[in-house]
Amino acid sequence: MKKTDYTAVVPVAGTGTRLRPHTYTYPKVLLTVGDKPIIGHILDDLSAAGITKVCMVVGYLGDKIKEYVNAHYAHLKVSYVEQAEQKGLGHAIWLTRQCVTGPVLVMLGDTILDADLSKFMGPGGDCIAVKEVKDPRRFGVVETKGGYITAMVEKPEHPKTNLAIVGIYSFRNSSQLYGSLQRLVDSGKTTKGEIQFTDAMAAMVKAGHKIRPVAIDGWYDCGKPETLLETNRYILDTKTFRPKASNSLIIPPVYISPTAQVTNSIVGPYASIGDGAKIDSSIVSDSIVNENAHIFNMNLSGSLVGPSATVVGRKDQLNVGENSEIRFDKTSCDI
Ligand code: UTP
Repeated sequence: MKKTDYTAVVPVAGTGTRLRPHTYTYPKVLLTVGDKPIIGHILDDLSAAGITKVCMVVGYLGDKIKEYVNAHYAHLKVSYVEQAEQKGLGHAIWLTRQCVTGPVLVMLGDTILDADLSKFMGPGGDCIAVKEVKDPRRFGVVETKGGYITAMVEKPEHPKTNLAIVGIYSFRNSSQLYGSLQRLVDSGKTTKGEIQFTDAMAAMVKAGHKIRPVAIDGWYDCGKPETLLETNRYILDTKTFRPKASNSLIIPPVYISPTAQVTNSIVGPYASIGDGAKIDSSIVSDSIVNENAHIFNMNLSGSLVGPSATVVGRKDQLNVGENSEIRFDKTSCDI
């Protein structure tokens, strides 16, 4: 089976509530991390692994996603399926059944992985990525024996293992997967109110289908502000950029878009400055400044600034006499 036989299914219909207010106007996958939107990293990884066919499940603000993908990924054959109502990941994947024949690789739209995707498309059969996590209760969790999965449960209250399912699923015969999803949809079964992909795979496992767990270390979530910043730090650490700024100090790692303007500022470490953004007389570290945002007279750290947002601080002027003590906060310092 060749890698070009695979169709990648990427569900991106979600509303991204945990990333509000950014996701009120931008779909989560178009938020920048490192040097490009989240979906750009995912499609680049798929493309680098030899995949040419992608089926995306779009819903919330889907037109913006289509516009970006069509403009930047014309070399991939991308088709779209609409999920009008977010009924769960299982429902989203089930909707792609007309788009896919042959082998399928499902990749979630809000995680970036540092994993060799060819491991998931080799001769070893069906497999899913797993990672040991401290608290598996908010994940799908697998039990294994003899190198295969023996049970799968979505968000269990009392997990039997700490092996969490983390966003890549590979099936050589997609019709078996879609058959299980069809039975799940027909049964009307939901878990935590959603048609769960884990439930469809759990039914396959119960019927004796062999699925291998493939352990991966590099799993980077983009679902919450703090994890988006963490993923940003990972991407800046692993890629090399040549940021340019005028009359400024750059403390690597930093990404500055060639169309951004940085003047009289200190940028970094771990700052990503998007297309057309302007940073003037500011200090910016551990932050993502999206395209066309404008930052002036600010000291920012651990911050996410949305596209076209303006953040202006202030400069104070003092005329300070001998033995004065001026403090702008309550922290004591011995100077
Ligand atoms: P999440 O539940 O993490 O994403 O789904 P979300 O719903 O966008 O975010 P929150 O929880 O409200 O903050 C994981 C992936 O599956 C897709 C999402 O778009 C995301 O890429 N998904 C999930 C769908 O496409 N449809 C669904 O019904 C559920």
